[in-house]
Amino acid sequence: MKIAIAGTGYVGLVTAAVLAHIGHQVVCVDPDKRKISLLKAGKCPIFEQGLPELLDKNRERLHFTDSYADAYRDAEVIFIAVGTPEKADGSANLKYVYTAVQQVAESVERDCVVVLKSTVPIGTNDKIQQLLVNNLVNNVKVEVVSNPEFLSQGTAVKDMLEASRIVIGVESDYARKVMEQVYGALNLPMLFTSRRSAEMIKYASNDFLALKISYINEIANLCEILDADVDDVAKGMGMDPRIGDKFLRAGIGYGGSCFPKDTKALHWLSNYHDYELKTIKAAIEVNANQKIKLIKKARRYYGSFEGLSVAVLGLAFKPGTDDLREAPSLDNIVILLDEGAKIRAWDPLAVENFKRYYPNEIEYCATIEDTLKDADICFIFTEWDQVKALKPEDFLQMRKPIILDGRNCFDPKLMAKYPLVYDSIGRKLVNNI
Ligand SMILES: NC(=O)c1ccc[n+]([C@@H]2O[C@H](COP(=O)([O-])OP(=O)(O)OC[C@H]3O[C@@H](n4cnc5c(N)ncnc54)[C@H](O)[C@@H]3O)[C@@H](O)[C@H]2O)c1
Repeated sequence: MKIAIAGTGYVGLVTAAVLAHIGHQVVCVDPDKRKISLLKAGKCPIFEQGLPELLDKNRERLHFTDSYADAYRDAEVIFIAVGTPEKADGSANLKYVYTAVQQVAESVERDCVVVLKSTVPIGTNDKIQQLLVNNLVNNVKVEVVSNPEFLSQGTAVKDMLEASRIVIGVESDYARKVMEQVYGALNLPMLFTSRRSAEMIKYASNDFLALKISYINEIANLCEILDADVDDVAKGMGMDPRIGDKFLRAGIGYGGSCFPKDTKALHWLSNYHDYELKTIKAAIEVNANQKIKLIKKARRYYGSFEGLSVAVLGLAFKPGTDDLREAPSLDNIVILLDEGAKIRAWDPLAVENFKRYYPNEIEYCATIEDTLKDADICFIFTEWDQVKALKPEDFLQMRKPIILDGRNCFDPKLMAKYPLVYDSIGRKLVNNI
């Protein structure tokens, strides 16, 4: 099939590579000329495991352009995978989606199906159907389909090739048949629903996972007060198949481009319809506090951060990505800098992106060893494998080995054998200095 994709971000580009992989002709369009010229030159503009290889392998079926007309004119199916960031009031900002829809309306010259992959509030697909009908320049039939995406950054290619389900919201048999043709070769379970239910499935799923994270984080906070161990608690809970062991790792909260904005957007939408979504409100509040939990812990050891030498291990919101959107590192570092701390930071992928926020205020180190040297305290924000591979001895080169571990990378029992402070989330405090 001839497929066009609006947006070459995490979702658009992975979708493009996967659809080309199963034999479709795919053209990607993006106003970001830098991304398009990198892609045309055979380079991948984002870090995502396995993506450069998949793009490379399917190069003859993949095309990149910044011309909307060229991309959409002749497409049988048009995917929209542009960003839907958060507005100041928490609602979803749909300006990129509406711009893309307008560009489609002005360009299509044949009957086609427009597939919304972007995460959009319930009812948006219906509005887009109407918008297209009202604004089509040529006399063609266009049908809108909701097809939310569930991939996780870091494992996006695998997530799409081995998806647990493909959710497709359609309002006609014709659209259903087209979508079966699009995805058939993947041989994955497809769930067909109405457009509104598909939109809701996306928010309800993301918000449930965010809720699960906030729940275990609250249990972890209580474990610290009551001297229980959250790792054991999560293990015991996770063995119950009704609960499951995923998303039960206590830490300093969720970040990234999805959970924070999708919880706020659904909460905003429910309020707008005079319904208070209390569970999600709680998940959002718990996460906001959890993100700065290490700062609160640090105040136990130092009355002031002025002149303190702080080692930061990990900047990305999770391992396997260079993405910093809503990363806890940002929430903490702004406070540390504001209060006069001197920061040395290490991250294997996200340093270049971090420099866009802090080009000169932080010393970026090439090695963990250089980062830790002579530090008064260490903050761990991301559980990179290189961090988890450290030995307790590695921290002893710090001026004061006080380790605040926001991702529970080490065993407190092992750390307890060394002259250091090891303060993690929901587990026994080790204080040997
Ligand atoms: N990133 C994830 O893990 C993830 C997972 C599931 C769903 N989603 C959802 O998918 C959507 C896209 O997310 P993302 O992370 O891929 O975003 P992104 O910010 O990485 O990429 C969006 C791309 O769209 C491009 N764009 C903007 N306006 C355009 C237009 N008019 N025409 C064509 N391209 C345009 C931008 O230049 C950018 O390259 C969002 O709604 C997000 O919530 C994201």
